[in-house]
Amino acid sequence: MNTNPKHFLTLSDLTAEQIIALIDRAIELKTQRKNHQPHPTLEGKILAMIFEKASTRTRISFEAGIIQLGGQALFIASKDSQMGRGEPIFDTAKVISSMVDLVMMRTYSHQTITEFAENSTVPVINGLTEEHHPCQLLADLMTIKENFPNLENLKITWIGDGNNMCNSTIELAHILGLELAIYTPEGYQPQSKHLPKSNKIKLCNNLEEAIKDSHIVSTDVWASMGDEQQAKQRQKAFAHCQVNQKNMQLADKNAIFLHCLPAHRGEEVTAEVIDGTQSRVWQQAENRLHAQKALMEHLLN
Ligand code: CP
Ligand code: NVA
Repeated sequence: MNTNPKHFLTLSDLTAEQIIALIDRAIELKTQRKNHQPHPTLEGKILAMIFEKASTRTRISFEAGIIQLGGQALFIASKDSQMGRGEPIFDTAKVISSMVDLVMMRTYSHQTITEFAENSTVPVINGLTEEHHPCQLLADLMTIKENFPNLENLKITWIGDGNNMCNSTIELAHILGLELAIYTPEGYQPQSKHLPKSNKIKLCNNLEEAIKDSHIVSTDVWASMGDEQQAKQRQKAFAHCQVNQKNMQLADKNAIFLHCLPAHRGEEVTAEVIDGTQSRVWQQAENRLHAQKALMEHLLN
């Protein structure tokens, strides 16, 4: 029994060097898959996937990923388990981790996953909480590296909500020393605990300033899972936060557009941009598979 497993709850659980090595491995795994080369590096391993909320990409990329590595996945909707009837997280963590090799969780509160991890004897991966979405940022970085291989002198722009995706984007930029410009409506900025003191990461007063000469423009929905009640009020507050062709023209001529998906065309992004030539959202979504396979190998090997 491992009493001190490695977890991946936020990007800070990895160093810059580990992140880059993991992305290089993900690119290698992607090539192996395209060439139909088997790569069963986690033969016989079992991944438990616990979901408090909906998912398409996270569930399928983890499930397909562990199968491609020679293991198997168990899907657990927490509401259909005893967790949904109030069994304490620490009891659940002790029991589930005694039976599987690895756990991935998507929870509302970030506290839930940290409590699970503290009581788990196997590695725990954050598949999204209200505060972080680190797996998505591994796929984002892989996509950035495929488009800008040396990762040098890049400006990233975040437009929209100061949400889980924004927090993880800040964390990645900070770890790798990348420039990040953030534009959010008044009242929706990332919490100060997620904003490191850094002259490379700044909150901008207008969208044009944030997007100017940027190489990577990223956004997300205006109302995340759990914010549905505020959808109407957010539509008003975020109306000026749309990534469209006009403001994409202020970015670098080789700029790419990223979105973790699902997207709402006509809200945070126009169809012209997300379905246009600068969009890399399908590459980004596919990269969830490869990046998380590299992550699972890292945690288990
Ligand atoms: N981007 C992302 O995490 O998608 P899902 O909610 O479909 O998993
Ligand atoms: N910010 C979004 C991301 C979905 C993948 C949410 O939390 O719903």
